[in-house]
Amino acid sequence: MTTSHFEEMRRDVERELNRIFDLRRDVPRTLLESMKYSVMAGGKRLRPLLVIASAEAVGGERSAALPTAAAMEMIHTYTLIHDDLPAMDDDDLRRGLPTNHKKFGEATAILAGDGLLTLAFEVMAEPPAGSDAGVDARIRVVQIVAGAVGAVGTVGGQQLDVEHEGRDVDLETLEKIHRLKTGTMISVAVQSGALLGGAGEAELFALTIYGDKLGLAFQVFDDVLDVEGDAKTMGKNVGGDARKKKATYPALMGLEESKKFGNRLVDGALEALSTMRGETKHLKELALYVARRNN
Ligand code: IPE
Ligand code: IPE
Ligand code: MG
Ligand code: MG
Ligand code: MG
Repeated sequence: MTTSHFEEMRRDVERELNRIFDLRRDVPRTLLESMKYSVMAGGKRLRPLLVIASAEAVGGERSAALPTAAAMEMIHTYTLIHDDLPAMDDDDLRRGLPTNHKKFGEATAILAGDGLLTLAFEVMAEPPAGSDAGVDARIRVVQIVAGAVGAVGTVGGQQLDVEHEGRDVDLETLEKIHRLKTGTMISVAVQSGALLGGAGEAELFALTIYGDKLGLAFQVFDDVLDVEGDAKTMGKNVGGDARKKKATYPALMGLEESKKFGNRLVDGALEALSTMRGETKHLKELALYVARRNN
């Protein structure tokens, strides 16, 4: 995903994140440093790219989608910081750097996550400079993002993930865990972009199917990469899922079947796009990237 249009989108996201942090100089110094440390460490920026690509696919302006794109990256980064804590996956490498708690200690890592999550909602609700356009869309975005990343979404999924460590799970339970802990956030990134871009009902419907399939596929391939990926390329340690006896697709159906399942989901996501009238090239490329990535 190095193509220049994605590079350009990523640059816009970095600029927006910097703008947001620059306005928060009153945050206690170590806390701000810790929040920025994990967010600015990079990462693929998939969720913000999906917000932007989705808004643009329905004819919206990038500027209307950028604050929410940056906010989704802050929420995602908070989940990574908390996911890496000793009480959860206990990892010490993230985005090529020591994990937040390794660098700043557990208390600051927990608070940095809390700070990023709440700041994200402030940013999503904020009116764009000089106008209060799109207030209805922003309220709806705040509502669906809160639902998707909360106790019936990401947070609930993480609870099920830790509860099922070391236990046998059936396919239905595994799919539920993966949809909740990862799928819902990816799906809501796509839906938010669509709403901010002014999507009609049919477009929103198609993009919701695209996001749902892509979201589950993303975690399937994350599980696959934990088995056969390279830690240096990914910037995080591999093999931890098997060590911790996590409920994963490779553990349940094997590596090759997992890849086939992931590819089928990506095909389904692409199929959903075929009903759209707008330019969906970037969304297509992002879906293909999810299946082909090595990081
Ligand atoms: C990792 O997400 C956590 C999961 C939801 C599987 P990413 O693979 O998108 O991590 P970054 O943002 O590129 O670091
Ligand atoms: C992460 O799942 C899901 C969330 C962070 C919400 P993983 O635990 O598999 O993510 P990685 O592999 O540590 O990035
Ligand atoms: Mg985890
Ligand atoms: Mg983890
Ligand atoms: Mg993983």
